[in-house]
Amino acid sequence: MSGFPEFDYRNNELFVESVSLKQIASEFGTPCYVYSRAALTQAYQAFDSAFAKRDHLICYAVKANSNIAILNLFARLGSGFDIVSGGELQRVIKAGGDPGKIVFSGVGKNAEEMRLALNANILCFNVESEAELIVLNQIAKEMSKIASVSLRVNPDVDAKTHPYISTGLKENKFGIPAKEAERIYQSAHLFPHIRFTGLDCHIGSQLTEIEPFLQASSKMLKLLETMQSQGLQIEHLDLGGGLGIRYTNETPPSIKDYVSALCASTQHIKQRLLIEPGRSLVGNSGILLTRIEYLKHTPARNFAIVDAAMNDLMRPALYDAYHDILPVHNNGGEIKSYQVVGPVCETGDFLGHDRKLSLNSGDLLAVMSAGAYGMSMSSNYNTRPRAAEIMVDRDTVHVIRQRETIDELIATEQILPQ
Ligand code: LLP
Repeated sequence: MSGFPEFDYRNNELFVESVSLKQIASEFGTPCYVYSRAALTQAYQAFDSAFAKRDHLICYAVKANSNIAILNLFARLGSGFDIVSGGELQRVIKAGGDPGKIVFSGVGKNAEEMRLALNANILCFNVESEAELIVLNQIAKEMSKIASVSLRVNPDVDAKTHPYISTGLKENKFGIPAKEAERIYQSAHLFPHIRFTGLDCHIGSQLTEIEPFLQASSKMLKLLETMQSQGLQIEHLDLGGGLGIRYTNETPPSIKDYVSALCASTQHIKQRLLIEPGRSLVGNSGILLTRIEYLKHTPARNFAIVDAAMNDLMRPALYDAYHDILPVHNNGGEIKSYQVVGPVCETGDFLGHDRKLSLNSGDLLAVMSAGAYGMSMSSNYNTRPRAAEIMVDRDTVHVIRQRETIDELIATEQILPQ
């Protein structure tokens, strides 16, 4: 048992759905990301069905994994999207996503991105400062448009997660303090090209408890009440993303329990509920497949040097994040403790510390729970082409992104003429 649905052993060989990872490695090479269509679909449907009859929109946070095949799958299931750049907007449109289901988050939207989004008629801008609102109003005016806006409120709630991915504390750069948001909503008349249609918050990522979500929701409900008493017509409440997944022994709430709790805490309001899940939709639907180049035994440690590195999966180096590492073939041999490291010239280039594995050089390893913030955060550090991405659908294998070539990497660089 791998503990990851859709990625499991058959006769000691790790499979994704009905395809062996060994077969994928021999056909497409390593390192590569491998996703399961069934796992993606099940995660989306778990969210959707938990909302039951409640008016809702799931806006998948594109940053978690922005491959257009994945965006297209979610679009076909009815999903909306949470974007944070003009680039993500173009991806969603290319993938067939409905612009009328897009919310645009982020503290630093530039004028060009605002124009693109206004042109596309997106559902809503999640505005994070008064300065941004002034610019958006001006651009909408120039385009003779009205921009729909939610203010992103910073509810000052401790998400109890890694400090780098906590966003809802008053000292974080995100959102607008509730009091200030109240004042801005009251000054709506100063922004004739803005229509305030929503209220938004997002307190962090990889949350493993429900309580901080409920604290944030209760603060948002208070603000909603105040605004309604002042005559503002708010159409939706966006409670952000952030539901955690199990990487190892975390026990996050299930999708169903999380959504049910949000619905229960907001059952007395009639507004449409929006959420922006990223990791919980894609995290456990993908793995990073890598091959061991060398085993290196030093007096201090055993190293398994693999062909994937921090440029492919940055989370261990950046957050000291833990990803399970499983052998693709369970060989039943002698177990040793390994540092699983990549070829990049940094001591921070590791995928896992002290992993108990039985290994031979040439073996394949699966780095689990890599569907979220894996490929989307990858880079070309050390002039390493980015990995291929593969989607498995039952017994069919699709390449959804070709492995990059070195020629592509350097194609736009120029040597000085003299
Ligand atoms: N909405 C907003 C405004 C966000 O900033 C984020 C994530 C999400 C939604 C989606 O959150 P999720 O459901 O995925 O937790 N690179 C980090 C995670 C950064 C999250 C940033 N914001 C990691 O690898 O853990």
